[in-house]
Amino acid sequence: MQNLNFTVDADGIALIAIDLPDRSMNVITPGLTQELAAAVERVAAEVGIRGAVLTSAKAEGFVAGADIGFMAGLLEDGIDAPAGARLAEPLSLVLRRLEICGKPFAAAINGLALGGGLELALACHYRVLADAPKVAVGLPEVGLGLLPGGGGTQRLPRLIGIEKSLPLLLTGQQLRPAEALKLGVVHALAEPAQVVQAARQWLLASPKATQPWDEKGYRVPGGAGPTASHVSRTVTAATTLAAAQTQRNLPAPLAILSAVYEGAQLPMDGALAIERKYFGQLLASDVARNLMRTMFINKQRCDKLANRPAGVPKAKVTRLGVLGAGMMGAGIAYSAANVGIDVVLLDATQEQAERGKQYAQNTLDKAVSRGRSTPQKAAAVLARIHPTTDFAALAGCEFVIEAVFEQRGVKAEVTRKAAAAMAGDAVFGSNTSTLPITGLAEAFERPADFIGVHFFSPVERMPLLEIILGEKTSQATLARALDLAEQLRKTPIVVNDSRGFFTSRTFGTFIKEGVAMLQEGVLPALIENAARQAGMPVGPLAVVDEVSLEITLKVYDQWVADGAQPLHEPALSVNLMRKMVEELGRKGKAAGAGFFEYPADGKKRLWPGLAQLCPPQASQPDVEELKRRFLTIQALEGARCIDEGVVRDPADADIGSILGIGYPAWTGGVLSYIETVGLQRFVEQARDFAARLGPRYEPPADLLRRAAEQQAYHPPMAAAA
Ligand code: NAI
Repeated sequence: MQNLNFTVDADGIALIAIDLPDRSMNVITPGLTQELAAAVERVAAEVGIRGAVLTSAKAEGFVAGADIGFMAGLLEDGIDAPAGARLAEPLSLVLRRLEICGKPFAAAINGLALGGGLELALACHYRVLADAPKVAVGLPEVGLGLLPGGGGTQRLPRLIGIEKSLPLLLTGQQLRPAEALKLGVVHALAEPAQVVQAARQWLLASPKATQPWDEKGYRVPGGAGPTASHVSRTVTAATTLAAAQTQRNLPAPLAILSAVYEGAQLPMDGALAIERKYFGQLLASDVARNLMRTMFINKQRCDKLANRPAGVPKAKVTRLGVLGAGMMGAGIAYSAANVGIDVVLLDATQEQAERGKQYAQNTLDKAVSRGRSTPQKAAAVLARIHPTTDFAALAGCEFVIEAVFEQRGVKAEVTRKAAAAMAGDAVFGSNTSTLPITGLAEAFERPADFIGVHFFSPVERMPLLEIILGEKTSQATLARALDLAEQLRKTPIVVNDSRGFFTSRTFGTFIKEGVAMLQEGVLPALIENAARQAGMPVGPLAVVDEVSLEITLKVYDQWVADGAQPLHEPALSVNLMRKMVEELGRKGKAAGAGFFEYPADGKKRLWPGLAQLCPPQASQPDVEELKRRFLTIQALEGARCIDEGVVRDPADADIGSILGIGYPAWTGGVLSYIETVGLQRFVEQARDFAARLGPRYEPPADLLRRAAEQQAYHPPMAAAA
């Protein structure tokens, strides 16, 4: 066998160790499934074998899940629901055979067991899990738009009850060993080196080779089946979650819920068939393909620093300068200190610099009180942040990032002062969110060492770092910015200089489209709901309040002053914002009034005065049309960024849109969305919008060419995996 080592010891215990060649971690492949089937039959048939231990020969862990390369290839070619269900059959049937073959199986889970890996273990009659810090078990399929198709939706509820299993299945949450034991997902924990021995011990006691659910009179734990009141409460909560996800175009939670609920009423074989049916339906959806592309192919591509210039040695930052200790500067300082970097945190006054450090203190206090850190660790992180007003303190920094006000003059002044103090080979990064990098670099005497490093708020939680190349930025500087991203555990995307780069200009179209709808007389609540139903985390009116209408206007005015002619500016939406700010004093959330009201009871609500300002149309548009507008206008901006050479790699646009600005993950990102709709159809839809709503919907030349030549943005997934 190629993927399994099968040995039998003197006690008649078979040891089946999974060991895929040429991989550091095991995954489930068709070949492995076939060999498992043969191994199960051998255990069942050989009189000398009393039972079997199923384990892995890999130091990295047990089995990580499905083979993404294989799955990606299938999804690329397209698969229908019945074929998808058939695809799940081999593993589903082998695992069923394993649990009823008459001989006991014990899983010795020596490390990470996810998805199909945990499903293998769940089919065994006994599970012992390695008790070590990095070990986790879970069924994360929901995150890929799928469900566990190897019995996970049936065995987990039967093992620990519907109530406890639903949250795990619906969120994909991973369990640490102690949690897995407490919940009853595994029977015992052991030192990693002892798991096989512990499994053998269990087998040597000649246990029964039946699963609880194959015993007479078995009932799902935690009540008298799915109708017991607390269970039905869970199901109600889960139904609400699943319905909300369905509305946001994520079909997996509802399919999981249906599989669990329907399956729980049936004996195991029927239940598994139900699971396979839903698995097939999910596999046939665009959502699974897009999520797989996002999470596995594009994200890994960005994380692997696919575009890191060759020949530049890797560098680590030991001391980072941060100019401006406001919201962003404080977040950057905290994130850097957290990964062991010393930070010089500079602001105009010592008090403001200290306030930036206080942010780290508050965040760390919370982490300690929630048990996620210890007082000692928190103190060590805090001690790395050095608040100051003295530019001379930047002398020892390998990298300095400015996060002062979004004003050219202020940025130029701090850049010049920093340059005078910095080492001759240190890199200078700007965290500007809109100003072109090439212009800002003029204040720095070594523009080759100047680069845009655009973080997102809150810095410690947002995973993206948008790196922007100015005209003179060197490849060595790019490499150092990518190395810093890796140190800070951010996923980087790299783009060429442009007003608003990729993320801010794309997100800007979302905000302006929302305000334009308001102008057209669409009801504000409908606008906000449509955006959320499209999958955006927050509606555009709430976002612009959050950012502040005043700042949004300032950015716009700066663009106009710079001579920019943004195509996608519905002038009306700017006029409306100006009226809100200048005539009505409604500047946004921080000012206590914007498109929303912010009463003392803490529950914001849409400002009723909007009805006078933008009288609603008598007949309101269909929510589907509004959803499509939000997705389309941003996707078009992504296509324009490709057309103009701002985005260099389609993976950057897709990952940047999902991780940076909340473009819905089910689409796979702005460019994947265009491919999901179909290039030609997307162009037709955009042109239809352009005719009705204005030239901001005109598709760019590169997209027209791609549609005509049927040239997708992405290479086939199987090739990329
Ligand atoms: P902020 O207003 O919270 O902080 C700016 C800080 O810079 C203040 O503490 C201020 O005292 C300090 N500062 C101003 N002039 C200074 C000087 N001459 N010397 C030293 N310190 C000085 O602003 P925020 O939101 O942190 O934004 C900072 C930068 O980050 C801006 O360029 C902004 O566009 C960008 N950005 C903002 C994001 C956001 O979500 N707020 C997201 C990404 C980028």
